[in-house]
Amino acid sequence: MNEGLTILTMTPASASAAPVSPNASPLDHGPDSVSRRSSLAVNGGTPVASEAIPMIAVRIDDAEIDAAVRVMRSGRLVQGAVVKEFEAQFAAATGARFAVACSNGTTALQLAYQLLLERDQSALVPGWTFIATASMVRARPAIPVFADALHDTCCIDLASAEQQMRDSTRLIVPVHLYGNPVDIGGVQAFAARHGLKVVYDAAQSHLASYNGQPIGAYGDAVTYSFYPTKNMTTGEGGMVTTNDEALAAELRVVRDHGMRVRYLHEALGFNYRMTDVFAAIGIEQLRHLPEWTARRRANAARLDTLLRDVEGVHLPTTTPGGEHAYHLYTIRLDLDRLSCGRDTFATALAAEGCGYALHYPRPLNRQPVFLNDPEIVCPPLPVAERLAEEVLCIPVHPFLTDRQVELVAEAVTKVADAYRR
Ligand SMILES: Cc1ncc(COP(=O)(O)O)c(C=O)c1O
Repeated sequence: MNEGLTILTMTPASASAAPVSPNASPLDHGPDSVSRRSSLAVNGGTPVASEAIPMIAVRIDDAEIDAAVRVMRSGRLVQGAVVKEFEAQFAAATGARFAVACSNGTTALQLAYQLLLERDQSALVPGWTFIATASMVRARPAIPVFADALHDTCCIDLASAEQQMRDSTRLIVPVHLYGNPVDIGGVQAFAARHGLKVVYDAAQSHLASYNGQPIGAYGDAVTYSFYPTKNMTTGEGGMVTTNDEALAAELRVVRDHGMRVRYLHEALGFNYRMTDVFAAIGIEQLRHLPEWTARRRANAARLDTLLRDVEGVHLPTTTPGGEHAYHLYTIRLDLDRLSCGRDTFATALAAEGCGYALHYPRPLNRQPVFLNDPEIVCPPLPVAERLAEEVLCIPVHPFLTDRQVELVAEAVTKVADAYRR
């Protein structure tokens, strides 16, 4: 057995970094702050980590490779017994009765919307999420209605959702963002009060739980992604889980060209099937997922401890009742306490050898695809817009060593100290 293949991805510094001057802010002067800044690696100082710490790591072991090869040798490549087995195991792992595998997390959303949202109805979506949550509503074609985010948890703000709701709204799509479950109790009560269906977008939240139950146990449907950066991967891949047997059956029909009987097309469908090669990889990844998730949580707990007293940095807040899956460890910078913007902070962090990612640099109400669509209203979303200036994701993945976790915290502390007002 080899050590496994770990593919490391260092997020490039996407931000345009302003050169850091010792006199960057009139509020931060004095010899101490000047010397703290000049010790930053971005200014020629010694980096905290001599080897770059990657933001993301993907691990593929011999087991995944052997399982994929077995399927290839079998000649049964698509939507066969291995996909069925992966579906059964994934449903059990996420607390759902049924699971329907598909080609990615975007098509998982599209399958759910195809059955739970009519053309020209509207769906409440967070303005603070990945584009697919909203763009697949538009692809239905239906109307995404944007709600703001909560500043602490970064998840959908139900008070804002209440304000934005329309007569045409029939669905709400909360996102368990960064691995943090939304307030499912609040969402279910909100949906019941307004007669809405609920699709939870759990692309980032495999094995998160709420009130002790896996998140797959809630709502009309829950969608997942197996893109390589996610908590587990199949290369490309997705899943819809549901407790509704009839809905599961319909999802399978829509996934395969609207066919229940070969070449009898009852409904508009797509080819969103999963290959057995990918499912075989998924089964092996799922085996590791509890251990990897526990390691993510342990890394997050260590970062919480190490960064707790760093002024100018807010740590991730877990929704009450939720158990976070830490797909991402997302800090928020307190820009009143720092003399730099997030992008300068991020560039300095990368120079210290600490990878980072921006999820997201721009909220959905500021995306050209929606701003240029005459049928979509893009209201101001003050919290989402503020988050776009403040958030910074730092490494928390399960393949970090204990020392690397410490170095991540050291790098964040060093940069915050250098830029503190
Ligand atoms: C919240 C969210 N929804 C949906 C998706 C789409 O998943 P995929 O990339 O597998 O299509 C992603 C992927 O990044 C996501 O983060």
